[in-house]
Amino acid sequence: MENFEFVSPTHFVFGRDAELQVGEKLAERGAKKVLLHFGGQSAQKSGLLDRVKGSLDAAGIEWIELGGVRPNPEINLSREGVKLCKENDVDWVLAVGGGSVIDSAKAIAVGAHYDGDVWEIFESKEQVTDVLPIAVVLTIPAAGSEASKNTVVSNDELGMKTGYANNAQRPKLAFMNPELTFTLPPYQTAAGITDMYCHLLERFFCDVGPVPVTDNLCLSLMRTIRAEAPRVMVDPEDYEARANIMWAGMLCHQGLAGVGRHEDWATHGMEHELSAYDTTITHGAGLAVMFPAWMEYVCEENYDRFIQYGREVFGLVITGDKEADALSAVDETRAFFSSLGMPATLQELGIESEEQLEEAIAEMLPTLKINKGEPFGNFKKLTVEDAAEIYRLAF
Ligand code: NZQ
Ligand code: ZN
Repeated sequence: MENFEFVSPTHFVFGRDAELQVGEKLAERGAKKVLLHFGGQSAQKSGLLDRVKGSLDAAGIEWIELGGVRPNPEINLSREGVKLCKENDVDWVLAVGGGSVIDSAKAIAVGAHYDGDVWEIFESKEQVTDVLPIAVVLTIPAAGSEASKNTVVSNDELGMKTGYANNAQRPKLAFMNPELTFTLPPYQTAAGITDMYCHLLERFFCDVGPVPVTDNLCLSLMRTIRAEAPRVMVDPEDYEARANIMWAGMLCHQGLAGVGRHEDWATHGMEHELSAYDTTITHGAGLAVMFPAWMEYVCEENYDRFIQYGREVFGLVITGDKEADALSAVDETRAFFSSLGMPATLQELGIESEEQLEEAIAEMLPTLKINKGEPFGNFKKLTVEDAAEIYRLAF
């Protein structure tokens, strides 16, 4: 087991009506003025925003609001948020939404007491320590940003989507009410499930030997997600299944499922380039296409790891033909994502011809190199030329 540090400061309030405790819990922590940050429409339409505002009012906490976060959030809105925080002496940032809203909130919290432009931090990766505390009301289980140390934000002007990791931006409070996810469109539910599952794949496929305590946590979460996913797809108001998926999404990405190993993250890197190339691509859908392609490309590095995964998650019987057994595990993964209604090819994501594919690759590789460096990934060290081959496999 590799040495590690693990920080997890998040206080979770989980279950029905969790969001009604927002005001009380923030007041206990001394919050005086909150920036309430949210997305397009869903939180408004469902009445969630009004309930959160009511809870803040009842606790005597002042708030100002900034909505309009789009999926694949853009830095300009975070810049606006930073300005609002500076002008209004905001002391907490409260995100009501999914990964995009939370990530935008993290950028705001990190930039609020920073002297320069917040994008500089995404470039320099400086570990700023003076970060506003963040609270989250989660509305979609997917990115795991409600407890993770990461944020991922797009800069349309530069054509980039860039991640930034810092334990200081882990949310201090996360309110998780599974009922809030009943209104999710099936595509978003499916993309979220795919994303959380891929957060486990990124950790399970690594370049160090077995770490049973961590490996088994991953495998158990994979089995749980596989079992609960069809239940929420069939009945979006199945509270128990929604609750299991919601908690799983957090466990997949807060960090425990990766400790003691070198995580991979090559596929997330390649997907982030895709959703920077076309900002309408949903992160989970991009992963559903890219992950099986990556698996096919790298599995010969360690067939046994793939065979273990296939046996323990899909119940595959070992035939003794290592390559065939490993590829069966890849096929099962692709079939799982397809069963949720996720795409399987880049063509389904709107890259229509080989010519467009090559154009996209030419656009994505330079920013991939800036974001990930070279080589990147750990299970197999990849060059950007390898990435080009993987995009072609995914086409
Ligand atoms: O904007 P609204 O109207 O709220 O609609 C959203 C959005 O269109 C909708 N939605 C959310 N909750 C809903 C709902 N619709 C109905 N009912 C609800 N309860 O869902 C759409 C997608 O929302 P978004 O926040 O974009 O989804 P997700 O949580 O999947 O976040 C994706 C973003 O997170 C990043 C991704 O790259 C992507 O930008 N990631 C962040 C990570 C992190 N911070 O640790 C790790 C991940 O690997 C990922 O990269
Ligand atoms: Zn992800």
